[in-house]
Amino acid sequence: MRKPIIAGNWKMNLGRVEEALEFVRQIRSPLYEVENVDRVICPPFTVLAALAEVIQANKIGLGAQNIHWEESGAHTGDISGPMIAALCQYVIIGHSERRAIGGAGESDEAIHKKVQAALNHGLTPIICVGENLTQKEAGETQAFVSGQVRAALTGLDQDQISTCVLAYEPIWAIGTGQAATAVDANSIIGLTIRGTIAETFGESAAQQVRVQYGGSVNVGNIAEYMSMPEIDGALVGGASLKPEFVELVKQASLTS
Ligand code: PGA
Repeated sequence: MRKPIIAGNWKMNLGRVEEALEFVRQIRSPLYEVENVDRVICPPFTVLAALAEVIQANKIGLGAQNIHWEESGAHTGDISGPMIAALCQYVIIGHSERRAIGGAGESDEAIHKKVQAALNHGLTPIICVGENLTQKEAGETQAFVSGQVRAALTGLDQDQISTCVLAYEPIWAIGTGQAATAVDANSIIGLTIRGTIAETFGESAAQQVRVQYGGSVNVGNIAEYMSMPEIDGALVGGASLKPEFVELVKQASLTS
């Protein structure tokens, strides 16, 4: 059985220490009571150190939103795995907002190197994949997502893959209120993501790896996603910035 995992991606929000601490103080006690679900928050780098202690004492995992694959060097504005490894357990890799940054978008190759770096530094990567609207309408979702999965995981062994978390995040569903249906998300995760992993790396890795759905997840739709056999949790943007995040984790616990 795969343990559900709900992760909050704060993006570029709540990055001042006082506001981040205030929010965490609101959610930590009710979250503490919830069993059988891994819960993680991924705030901006600026508050990782301040949150690390409070979070770990309250059974909440902490993640960063990105790392560089090198350990150090001339990379202005970047942060490396060893810089956050003592604070965090997770790191989001390849979010579509980073893949898409004008002119500086991250390639599949860069994402692969970041996944490898995360694992080398003892961090669990939450690897994001997902198609855009044009690709969806052209019927290219399966081929595109499968290619992203293969590129991100290439060269890893079965044990490494089974510790990774993947997040299927169709780009058209992120921040739009137009969530993918649970049936469609279940099918892409089962057939395309686990299917690709099974084909390339073996059935056991495919069955062990946890795969989240992300894109306009909220308290109204989380239960439906969690009721699907292939979906192991959610990567949540907007709703992770509100006390509603606790409800998402509770709902995931009820269906686990
Ligand atoms: P959303 O964002 O929940 O606001 O749609 C999800 C994400 O970008 O990870």
